[in-house]
Amino acid sequence: MRNHFKSASRIHIGASYYPEHWDEEYWPEDIRLMKDTGLTVVRMGEFAWSSMDPDAGEFYFDWLEKAISMLASAGIQTVLGTPTAAPPTWLVQQYPDILAVTELGQRVQVGNRCHSCVPSPDFRAAAARIVSAMGEAFGSNPNVIGWQFDNEFNRVCYCERCQKLFQDYLLRKYGSLDALNQHWSTRYWSQTYTDWEQIPIPIGPHNPGLMLEFKHFTTENYRSFQRLQIDNLKPYLAENVWMTHNFMQWFRGYDHYILSEDLDIASWDWYVGMGHHDYLSSGVLHDLIRGFKNQNFWLIETQPASVNWKPINNTLNKGETRAMAWHAIGHGADAILYWQWRSALGGQEQLHGTIVDQSSQPRPFYGEVQQLGRDLSATSDLLAGSEIKASVAMLNDYDSLWAIDWQKHHRDFDYVEHFTHYYRPLALLNVPVDVISAKGVKHNKNLKNYRIIIAPALWLQDEDTAAALTEYVSRGGHLVLTIRSGMKDEFNALLPKRQPGNLRQIAGVEVEDYYALQEPVPVIGNFFEGQSNLWAERLIKIDRKKAITMAKYGKSNGWLDDQIAVSVHRYGNGLVYYVGAYLDVESQQILMERILKTAAVTTIKTPLGIELCVRQQPGGDNVYVVINHKPDRNKLRMPWPVYDHITSIEHRADIDLDAYGVAVLTVVKDE
Ligand code: GLA
Repeated sequence: MRNHFKSASRIHIGASYYPEHWDEEYWPEDIRLMKDTGLTVVRMGEFAWSSMDPDAGEFYFDWLEKAISMLASAGIQTVLGTPTAAPPTWLVQQYPDILAVTELGQRVQVGNRCHSCVPSPDFRAAAARIVSAMGEAFGSNPNVIGWQFDNEFNRVCYCERCQKLFQDYLLRKYGSLDALNQHWSTRYWSQTYTDWEQIPIPIGPHNPGLMLEFKHFTTENYRSFQRLQIDNLKPYLAENVWMTHNFMQWFRGYDHYILSEDLDIASWDWYVGMGHHDYLSSGVLHDLIRGFKNQNFWLIETQPASVNWKPINNTLNKGETRAMAWHAIGHGADAILYWQWRSALGGQEQLHGTIVDQSSQPRPFYGEVQQLGRDLSATSDLLAGSEIKASVAMLNDYDSLWAIDWQKHHRDFDYVEHFTHYYRPLALLNVPVDVISAKGVKHNKNLKNYRIIIAPALWLQDEDTAAALTEYVSRGGHLVLTIRSGMKDEFNALLPKRQPGNLRQIAGVEVEDYYALQEPVPVIGNFFEGQSNLWAERLIKIDRKKAITMAKYGKSNGWLDDQIAVSVHRYGNGLVYYVGAYLDVESQQILMERILKTAAVTTIKTPLGIELCVRQQPGGDNVYVVINHKPDRNKLRMPWPVYDHITSIEHRADIDLDAYGVAVLTVVKDE
């Protein structure tokens, strides 16, 4: 599963830099300040199509070549972005139909970003041309260490060409209309298709099978577009130069696992936007991205104190972004890049936070970047090559996420929130978690390394995944199934079985019925008394001998009264939990602690606000990243004498942490 690319030989700190916005006379001062903050990398070129290729004639790469080399002289490396998220105006004038069409049938305008119909042959030809020209110019440049394709893929086009391509995709996948009609139950409301050309692109709610396939088609579109860029770039790349795309956390547009297959490393853009980050929930975002390639990742964009696109663009507290950077590193980031270095005078993002302002002077935030630069120069060698080792995995499945989004059944039911509800109790106990692909379990050779696998709302289930999970449990693994498990097949049709579908036998229970709740329902457990919110499933034992009731519902709507809410069942050498209630936070914590303890997973209690992350060095030694996420002082005592590589202080008693303070520790081995 692991990729041969190491994401970095050091932990990088950097920023997005757009030298094309400024006369060259500004560059030396920019670079001097970058050096002063300790930046080791910049990302350039990603929206610079019109500066590199102003009229489909000659390419102008000299300016970029010069910027790369000036930066390199200051010891700063470059990641280049392909500029395909910003097709230039001349291209659109030449081929007006490369502009995408919205759901409402309107052509989008040129001048923003991501305005193209991704499958458009004219757009693809132009993209191939600029990408291969960039590859030829910079692919073997020793100062260019990696490439990012496009920027935050997100456009979905509804033009007639896309509809035709969608129909072709369906033909390839189903082979016959009979098969398609069968899987989609099209006799329902007389949807039966007798010609591929009759099949629409779904606009708004539609047949669940059709909606799911349109997501798969969108995934395929982006994958083939990315593939086109890889094919045009890779032949020029020197060895060890990696390729990535900058994803957006739980963005719901396509299957990120499929797009990641063709990339060397995963990277993502983390913005808190409005408010402040909650470290108990935001760790899951990093773990999600780490799971795209099952290896460390880059935080290739993050907010320098504030953004410009929220109702209130509050600035993060002094110190908070440094804590966020360390939080990302603690979860497997090998680079932190701020977006962006300097404010452009024009363009749509004039008020976004930056490190240097429009007058070329450092903002107050600059000092915080400098601090991170110092932190990393003291710890990079220690951390490079280290990885997160987790004994708990959580399964993520885009098909289930989409299908639940379309049939929430309870207005407030959200796949990601429910997922995070299972993550937070682990985060509170500093338990490292791998978030991995549910569909990937059938090929995942590392499953046996996990003591616990949690499968939150794995609504769509295919037989091979169910078989892999059954095998995992029979060999001794502990599996946690939750509400909305195993109800549908991979075509988004109901399985002709009760939940959890093909996992019923190992669960020892099945779901007799499910209830969207207007009011919470009491749940009385063997170890807790609480309530179920939003949702409740009524369980019945199918293995009367071995299925054990862990919690029952109290008096509520009659249907749930005294029925089983949570169960556990021994199967082979393992255990399967079925959590049929959406428990309140305290009960969820108690239940999850119990589940962790039964599986002998190590937990570490730290004062609220303090996070303890562990990265394991290739030799097996641990590096502890301790982060105080609170704006007040805090204390932590480690069980052994430790050395803090940021302050160069040895601690044998309490470690005092400032507001948003960080310590990077190794154990002092007394002679
Ligand atoms: C996104 C984009 C960046 C920039 C930032 C601003 O993440 O990738 O180009 O627009 O948002 O927050």
